[in-house]
Amino acid sequence: MRESRRRSGGPGRSSRSGRSGSLGAGGTKVEDAPLTRESIRRFPWRRLLGYTRDVRGRMVISMVALVISSLTTLAFPVLIGQGIGSVIERGSRADLNLLALTLLGIFLIGAIANYVNSYQLSYTGQTIIRRIREDVFGKIITRDAPFHAAHRSGELASRLSNDTTTLQSIFTGMLPTLLSGLLGLVGTVIVMVRLNPQLTLFMFISVPGIVIVAIVIGRRLEKLATAGQDQLAAVNAQATEVFMNLPIVKSFTAEKHEEVRYEDSLADLFTINIRNARYSAANVAIITFLAFAGIAGVVWFAGRQVIDGTSSIGTITTFLIFGIQIAMNFGQLSSLFGQFRQASGSSLRVFEILDSENTVPEPEHPRSLANITPTMSFDGVSFRYGNELVLDRVSFSVEAGETVALVGPSGAGKTTIVELLQRSYLPEEGVIGLGGIDITGASSHVVRARIAVVSQQAPLFKGTVRANIAYGKQDATDVEIEAAAMAAQAHEFIARLPDGYETELGDNGAGISGGQRQRLAIARAIVKRAPFLLLDEATSALDNTNEALVQQALNELMSEMTTLVVAHRLTTIEHADRIVVLNEGRVIEEGTHIALIAKGGFYADLHARTIREHGYQPESEATIPRI
Ligand SMILES: Nc1ncnc2c1ncn2[C@@H]1O[C@H](COP(=O)(O)OP(=O)(O)OP(=O)(O)O)[C@@H](O)[C@H]1O
Ligand SMILES: [Mg+2]
Repeated sequence: MRESRRRSGGPGRSSRSGRSGSLGAGGTKVEDAPLTRESIRRFPWRRLLGYTRDVRGRMVISMVALVISSLTTLAFPVLIGQGIGSVIERGSRADLNLLALTLLGIFLIGAIANYVNSYQLSYTGQTIIRRIREDVFGKIITRDAPFHAAHRSGELASRLSNDTTTLQSIFTGMLPTLLSGLLGLVGTVIVMVRLNPQLTLFMFISVPGIVIVAIVIGRRLEKLATAGQDQLAAVNAQATEVFMNLPIVKSFTAEKHEEVRYEDSLADLFTINIRNARYSAANVAIITFLAFAGIAGVVWFAGRQVIDGTSSIGTITTFLIFGIQIAMNFGQLSSLFGQFRQASGSSLRVFEILDSENTVPEPEHPRSLANITPTMSFDGVSFRYGNELVLDRVSFSVEAGETVALVGPSGAGKTTIVELLQRSYLPEEGVIGLGGIDITGASSHVVRARIAVVSQQAPLFKGTVRANIAYGKQDATDVEIEAAAMAAQAHEFIARLPDGYETELGDNGAGISGGQRQRLAIARAIVKRAPFLLLDEATSALDNTNEALVQQALNELMSEMTTLVVAHRLTTIEHADRIVVLNEGRVIEEGTHIALIAKGGFYADLHARTIREHGYQPESEATIPRI
């Protein structure tokens, strides 16, 4: 349970997450970094641009199109101004016709430029997000056990989807807004100054006010946005947790309790978002008012110039349209700050994964494990997670073809031994050998290729029954798959499924029983044809038929392979060639069932207790009690 919790992002820390905050982002507080010059400098522009490699041409095309579309926006007010001048002053119909046609042409060019810009930018953004996702996914699944122990899977999924999407928005949303906003502003100012410097000055009289409002309210909004994201992440993490544990929620009839808890969290989110809405609304209203106040000033001042005969109605019209465009530019640019901050946090979270290193070292010159005698050995192995000593000079061996049962109370270190054998971690002291070769000197890939694992949960994938079995050997033939299913006592039930081997299983193999699931997992291990078998036996009780079938399947498997089984069932333990008893990280007894019973020690006690509690049912699900 602990493992599955760690890996599947169940209950635990809830913290920040990406844009839509679907799940917590444990530990990393990068998003809390304020938008300072430092964070802009640290922003990995270069690396992001590296992802544009094969779409640079498209980026250039889209930028050119953007410039063209900005120019058309600039030309429009100028033309209108001139047109009104000529129509009113000279009353020329020909001029009017020409004006209308020119405007039409300009709008058409603008529309085409917009289309090109928008399409090419989206293409660029989609390409970048695809490349980044490929890299992030590849990186995540090749990280080692310590990395995955430290990161919740929900958090990693969030980085893969939400954070990369935010990065995409840099290219599809922020860059174009920034460029067109700046181009528009600069172009507008140049044209306006040339037309009428005095009026330009008047127009910008309210700009300092706008800047102050943008800064003051902007800060407030930024804080509220952060708080909102936090709370959204918490709300989503809470929902995910409940969905994942729904069977427990239901069996404790805690639906009402969870509903209330969720409603409380939602209420907090609502409050924050409403405050955010109030400030946003005020922000837009005040900035728009100030911008239009500038326009009112222009009307007043320009009107006087017209009356005095120093300016024309055409110029005023041009200025008014520019005024509206500028007001809109301000609005867009001010919203960029918040977006940039978000993207900056996302990029750090994404690149943190891309920069992560495995901490379990791989050998430079790995040894081969081909053609070894299939023996396993632990020789004085000590291991700790952090500071906690979990295995203390553990020694035992499993000879070729032997089945050794590993028995001991909960927390004794059994699963840790199984992990170490797969080279998920390296021991602090001592040697773990496969066929007499120290696995520290072999690559983890090679070690795992030689080992088949059937774990407690027997995880399956969404997909066909056939694909799930073939997972053990991707190029397995139909004959191999069916042979494995037969050996695993799974062929009969598979044949009865609606589509036989082609039956689609749901998420994590939903749609079959616990015993059937285990037999599929066993078939998968058989198909792999590895010399070693590691078995973390399920403690959950199966019904008698399933139990007998699973046992039969396991016997088949164990008879051919060198097996280490973390055993809970009396049948498995008693039939093992030898039993290794583990307690608090130390091997305290070792021997056959008969010898250990005769010795009357720890194992004999454990065994006696099991029989007292469950009665003696050799072919049933009586299990060693978990202390
Ligand atoms: N990733 C981890 N980080 C820190 N401590 C861990 C980790 N995994 C296990 N431990 C600790 O190591 C000890 C041994 O755990 P292990 O999972 O090997 O026990 P086990 O014998 O398999 O128990 P069970 O029968 O309950 O499965 C326990 O004290 C546990 O708390
Ligand atoms: Mg365990």
